[in-house]
Amino acid sequence: MQTNHLYRVDGLSVVVTGAGSGIGRSCAIAMAESGASKIYITGRRRELLVDTAEFINKQVSNCDVIAIDGDVTSIEWRQKFVREISSFGPLDILVNNAGIYHSTSFENTSDDELQQILKTNVESVFALTRDLLPALEQSNYPSVINIGSTLSLRPIAQGSAYNIAKAAIDHLTKSLAVELGSRRIRVNCVSPGIVETPMYRARFPSDESYYEAIEEAKVWHPLGRVGTPEDIARSVVFLSSRAASWITGIILPVDGGLLIS
Ligand SMILES: NC(=O)c1ccc[n+]([C@@H]2O[C@H](COP(=O)([O-])OP(=O)(O)OC[C@H]3O[C@@H](n4cnc5c(N)ncnc54)[C@H](OP(=O)(O)O)[C@@H]3O)[C@@H](O)[C@H]2O)c1
Repeated sequence: MQTNHLYRVDGLSVVVTGAGSGIGRSCAIAMAESGASKIYITGRRRELLVDTAEFINKQVSNCDVIAIDGDVTSIEWRQKFVREISSFGPLDILVNNAGIYHSTSFENTSDDELQQILKTNVESVFALTRDLLPALEQSNYPSVINIGSTLSLRPIAQGSAYNIAKAAIDHLTKSLAVELGSRRIRVNCVSPGIVETPMYRARFPSDESYYEAIEEAKVWHPLGRVGTPEDIARSVVFLSSRAASWITGIILPVDGGLLIS
């Protein structure tokens, strides 16, 4: 039985939020390499989106990459974005990847900081998915992939707001899988371990402390290394593809074994 084609997303249209850097950029590239015909990429920094789009256009022909910059926490921007996406016809895959991390002790986490983390990492995912439902329902293979974190199950100190935001993403994934299954919309979550991206780099004050932390982190991952954005992107493509057509509501750790160590 030939199954290779099932692991692809040929001809499908995709939205990837936070696609200017790190995991989101890799997801957009992997979707294009796996046959997506149209990819909408979002993020606040337009120059990063343009760079992602140019990279894809050099690597892959027949994929239309549309950069739409804006802030996912802005209701006005989300409404405009949803109108624009919906005017293009069916949406097949929504990758809710945009997120922020703050390293702050519990008692120093201000109300504003808590709100910012929850708005970016949870509320925007909830609202964008809800508002894009009509476009997803027009698709023959509708699928939503949320990017969670292993910190939802194994919280880290100095990260309480982020930890609870990602726990909410796990539960949102399961809630939507239950509610939207009858409408054929699959909803899954990929939970990365430590991945080398600008977000992880930003946790450290210097290159030296960063490289030290990466060496230390390798030991926590049974596979002996931290993750790459491509490790995560491949699992996102798999869960979006027809190979995963009977998978919904899962929280897939892609973590080099971190959670079992
Ligand atoms: N790296 C890790 O170790 C790790 C581990 C577990 C989970 N994750 C998750 O993986 C996802 C991607 O993170 P990453 O590691 O790839 O970090 P990253 O490179 O910082 O990517 C995050 C992206 O989200 C976008 N973004 C943030 N706030 C936004 C906003 N308000 N509106 C629109 N876009 C926004 C950023 O673009 P702009 O700043 O240009 O808007 C950026 O491109 C996040 O959900 C993160 O929580 C990462």
